[in-house]
Amino acid sequence: MHVAMIGTGYVGLVSGACFSEFGFDVDCVDKDSAKIEALRGGRMPIFEPGLEALVASNVGAGRLRFTTELAPAVGRADVVMIAVGTPSRRGDGHADLRYIYAAAEEIADALTGYTVIATKSTVPVGTGRELERLIAARRPDAAFDIVSNPEFLREGSAITDFMHPDRVVVGVESEPARATLNELYRPLFLRETPIIFTGLETAELVKYAANTFLATKITFINEIADICERIGADVHDVAKGIGLDGRIGSKFLHPGPGFGGSCFPKDARAFVRIAEESGAPSRIVEAVLAVNEARKARMAEKIVAACGGSVAGKTIAILGITFKPNTDDVRESPGLEIAPALAAAGADIRIYDPEGMAEGRAVLDGVTWSESAYGAMDGADAVVILTEWNEFRALDLERVKTLLKSPLIVDLRNIYNPADMAARGFYYVSVGRAATRPDGGVATVQGGGAR
Ligand code: UDX
Repeated sequence: MHVAMIGTGYVGLVSGACFSEFGFDVDCVDKDSAKIEALRGGRMPIFEPGLEALVASNVGAGRLRFTTELAPAVGRADVVMIAVGTPSRRGDGHADLRYIYAAAEEIADALTGYTVIATKSTVPVGTGRELERLIAARRPDAAFDIVSNPEFLREGSAITDFMHPDRVVVGVESEPARATLNELYRPLFLRETPIIFTGLETAELVKYAANTFLATKITFINEIADICERIGADVHDVAKGIGLDGRIGSKFLHPGPGFGGSCFPKDARAFVRIAEESGAPSRIVEAVLAVNEARKARMAEKIVAACGGSVAGKTIAILGITFKPNTDDVRESPGLEIAPALAAAGADIRIYDPEGMAEGRAVLDGVTWSESAYGAMDGADAVVILTEWNEFRALDLERVKTLLKSPLIVDLRNIYNPADMAARGFYYVSVGRAATRPDGGVATVQGGGAR
């Protein structure tokens, strides 16, 4: 079976490499010749654990190729997967489908023999149907079926997520297409992965419903965290107390500075538009977006409050700028709003991130980039943990104390224990738990004010 993967972004590259690992013959196609050159040289355009080795072994085995030539790859393919970007259209939150439609036209021109065309990109409900019309109009002679095959990969664990998914969702409406997708996912089916066959629109909606539900869960626990701070409760105990209820589940109940990344914010915005246009607006997801946006600004206020009400003239070390660990991606990362807000309030900002400095530099001005966590903290008035990278979980706290001017840690990812931090001599402020002071006192003021 031949697969042509159109687009070598996160989804395309990881999925292409994983399908080749299953033993299929995969051509990964991208218009960006520099990217294709780099991939041919074994250099990955993104940081994703395990990806480089997976690509190298499958290229070595002759099953995985990179090319800028779409037509030969599509001509050979039994399955063409569209995995190009669907960014938010400026201003209105709609997904921008120009790359999808451009790819569809090129694919249409190159079709030979019966071909299944599957969208992996997250696309608004109705896009599959539109692709069907568009390709049939351009190539009335072509034999093809459109399939919706959304992905649920998380950055940082994308390969494991692909190889061990909770489920595979396939929107398909013809027998030959269903048989082709069955063949493609047989290696997972053999591992008893549930494969759910639905109609086209349903599969498209499943993707948005999954992402917006998860974003809602995070936002819900963030609101619970705010309440905990005001009434002296512990958000982790609340999360455990509700999460053990099988109907709720314990995952995605970790409070923090608000969700970011390339998917949740963009997909939630697009979903709000989809719901509105369907005539059944989603007040819940509208609120989730508004609460999450406001949260990022309030996190800066929380840091200012922890610093005694002003950061003017103070140096603040920020650990982590990526939206989550194990990625170099800073898209919609809370840090991109928190760092400038602190700088605007008069602070000198020093940032260190294990993988995200290059991406961070490209979008953040007016801050200093440090070569190490300890370098960032040297002489700083406070340290703020924004991303839960493993290397921040086990800092040499004695060294941290000697480096900082005052022993203040604002941990927006809750990776340390408050009582332990107080015992070690820190004023420790986290999310949804009482702040603790070195003298053992509990500081109730968490700052940030009411929304
Ligand atoms: C997400 C979905 O999980 C994935 O299924 C989909 O295909 C793409 O979008 P990703 O954006 O890589 O994946 O990251 P994820 O691990 O889901 O985290 C998203 C954001 O939520 C991050 O900013 C993270 O810090 C935040 N988050 C996550 C929390 O604040 N608390 C949690 O409990 C979980």
